Amino acid sequence: MKIFHLSMECYPVAKVGGLADVVGALPKYQNKMGLDASVIMPWYNKPFFYNHDFEIVFDGFIHQSFHMYQVQVFKEKSNILGFDLYLVKIPGLLDRENVYGYWDESQQFIAFQHGVLHWLSAMQVRPDILHCHDYHTGLVPFMIENCYEFSFLKGVKTIGTIHNGEYQGSMDWQMSSFLPHFEGIRSGLLDWSGRINPMAAMIKSCNAFNAVSGGYLEELFYSFQGLEPLMNQERKKAFGIINGIDTEVWDPQTDDMLKFNYNKDYAEEGKWENKKVICAEYGLNPNLPLFGFIGRFAGEKGADLLPDIVEKSIQETNGSLNIMILGSGNQNIENQLKELQYKFNVNFALDLGYKEYLSHQIYASADFLLMPSRVEPCGLNQMYSMRYGTVPIVRYTGGLRDTVQDISTGGSGLNFTNAGADDTVFAIKRALHIYSQKDLMKGLIYNNMSFDFSWEKSAKNYLEMYNY
Ligand code: ADP
Ligand code: GLC
Repeated sequence: MKIFHLSMECYPVAKVGGLADVVGALPKYQNKMGLDASVIMPWYNKPFFYNHDFEIVFDGFIHQSFHMYQVQVFKEKSNILGFDLYLVKIPGLLDRENVYGYWDESQQFIAFQHGVLHWLSAMQVRPDILHCHDYHTGLVPFMIENCYEFSFLKGVKTIGTIHNGEYQGSMDWQMSSFLPHFEGIRSGLLDWSGRINPMAAMIKSCNAFNAVSGGYLEELFYSFQGLEPLMNQERKKAFGIINGIDTEVWDPQTDDMLKFNYNKDYAEEGKWENKKVICAEYGLNPNLPLFGFIGRFAGEKGADLLPDIVEKSIQETNGSLNIMILGSGNQNIENQLKELQYKFNVNFALDLGYKEYLSHQIYASADFLLMPSRVEPCGLNQMYSMRYGTVPIVRYTGGLRDTVQDISTGGSGLNFTNAGADDTVFAIKRALHIYSQKDLMKGLIYNNMSFDFSWEKSAKNYLEMYNY
């Protein structure tokens, strides 16, 4: 079975968040199952391209509105990733440094999809599955069925994966001039509430789609930024499939981003050695329990609660814990946290930015990981932390409730219900109580490290969906 994953991100080529981790891992595991999975993504002006060897496999042109764009497709030659990687370069539009955030991103995403389908049609490459990740590639199912230009691909099965339903790419109908030609009578397949909505279009036109956890799928039926009726309409082809993690990349025993490697038999010692290093670097006392947060400073992640959580938890426990935050995003949150760093410099460390190696070191060094998310379709951080023997403290939502069970009901993590600073601080106090019981803590570390979150099972579930 030949599968093409279409995505804006893929680890290690370009990563903004969990989408990259999933697209960098699932195809690898699908290939191990005997399938033939590849990734197609944009060419970005990033180091990966210059550090690897590529061959050009296509060079052509597409028309967008009144513009003509060159489309070049590069294939990575060494196959070190465990799957074939194709990068689609559209000079002047889709050859920039960042993945998101440009004023013309709707146009960029449309051109990427157009470029990919143009290349496949022109070269007569017909996969069995086109697997579209998030709304950025959500117009593909519509395009192959309704644009004459791609009639060679008509009938190819299309799959959509919703990693984040908060973003749908909704745009004014004026933007339709950027789309490849289709009959006006088909417009309804693109429309939601009087606008072109790529997420809605994906759901309407694909053969099957999934949310990245069963818990999140359930939520989408009553909370999906207005798409709830569509979910109900299309529920027959909706699946919930939890993400796995790449246990080769995320392995404390072999992870070369850590200062000290360890396995579950030496976890306490290994974590302690890592913790001492990070605490020395950030001026924290390693004898205190360390709570970590890693992530985008966005409302979905409950990042706006962080300043209150930091202040209250340090004050209300008389400074008997340390918190370390790695992340960036909302400027207001960044500023508030910077101020708190001056106020609580003994107990609070802040690193503003995106640092892959530091995230690994925090997963390894922290005793607890905080995830006060309002919305969490799956969440990978909690699984990484568990694999590294760090106890997750999560709000009971989406994928978090599917992966983290509270210690009071036999699990090895902590859950809380309301997305608020007070509930999070209450959970932190529960964690401190657990931390003071050495044997209990040791058992939790061991149990967390014993969980199997590998991709094998979920990759099988994807295959079932492909065969739907
Ligand atoms: P999302 O994709 O919504 O951001 P996930 O939990 O699925 O959330 O995945 C987040 C991924 O991004 C994880 O691999 C996490 O370690 C990583 N990450 C998030 N913020 C940072 C950061 N500032 N530095 C390094 N890695 C980060
Ligand atoms: C999104 C979600 C996150 C999920 C990731 C990978 O970014 O916010 O919860 O883990 O996609 O599926």
